[in-house]
Amino acid sequence: ASMEDATESTHGCGNMSDSEEDRCSDNDFGPSKLGTKEYWEDAYKKELETFKDIGDVGEIWFGEESMSRVLRWMDKAKIPENAAILDIGTGNGAFLVELARHGYRNLTGIDYSPASVELARSVLLAEDLEDVTVMEMDFLNCQGELKGFDVCIDKGTFDAISLNPDNTEAGKKLYVQSLKDALKNKGFFAITSCNWTKEQLLHRFKEGFDFVQELPTPNFQFGGRTGNSVTALIFKRVY
Ligand SMILES: C[S@@+](CC[C@H](N)C(=O)[O-])C[C@H]1O[C@@H](n2cnc3c(N)ncnc32)[C@H](O)[C@@H]1O
Repeated sequence: ASMEDATESTHGCGNMSDSEEDRCSDNDFGPSKLGTKEYWEDAYKKELETFKDIGDVGEIWFGEESMSRVLRWMDKAKIPENAAILDIGTGNGAFLVELARHGYRNLTGIDYSPASVELARSVLLAEDLEDVTVMEMDFLNCQGELKGFDVCIDKGTFDAISLNPDNTEAGKKLYVQSLKDALKNKGFFAITSCNWTKEQLLHRFKEGFDFVQELPTPNFQFGGRTGNSVTALIFKRVY
């Protein structure tokens, strides 16, 4: 087994509302649930109904701050407003809305759940953001269709993919390959994870990427231990 396998942690992370702290809760979804397409399809079907009923976009994974911190980094890194940006596993499309409000105008979101795609499109439409492209696509099987992006964003999707019981090491490798294909040389990858530590992510995205920086996330203290429940890292694609 690789070093990574030995240190792998698979605690699930709960959904959280924007008012909650920016940390993963431990009211675990087991790997079998959180990892499957059926799970997400079911979840977004329900959220779609709620959105149609009362206009609530649903859960913001890891809280609002998880979007603001990436946006602040994009400002500092001077990512231009016409940069091609891909949101991998966009869910309800909330991050696309934030990016568009921030001035970004070349936005694409993908998700393999049809209900998520419908929800994200409805949420964007309600915000008059019709120029954002949302596609139904499995990132692990995108057949070279995703390429030329300046920035790829992942918030909780690599986590979900890692939790899928069908996704063995091969699945994670496919993720890395799709990401490499999607990014331009010197393009950026911003990942927010609650399932993997910084060290594990550095190991996973070692070949073909340079580590740029870690974005500060809140600490939690529990039983005398201190840790970060969410890890946010920036990588740069190098050919
Ligand atoms: C934890 S949710 C995060 C959603 C969104 N990024 C957010 O922050 O709200 C994980 C998302 O990844 C999507 N997903 C999981 N595996 C995928 C795959 N292989 N290809 C595309 N999307 C996937 C799920 O449908 C779900 O929308």
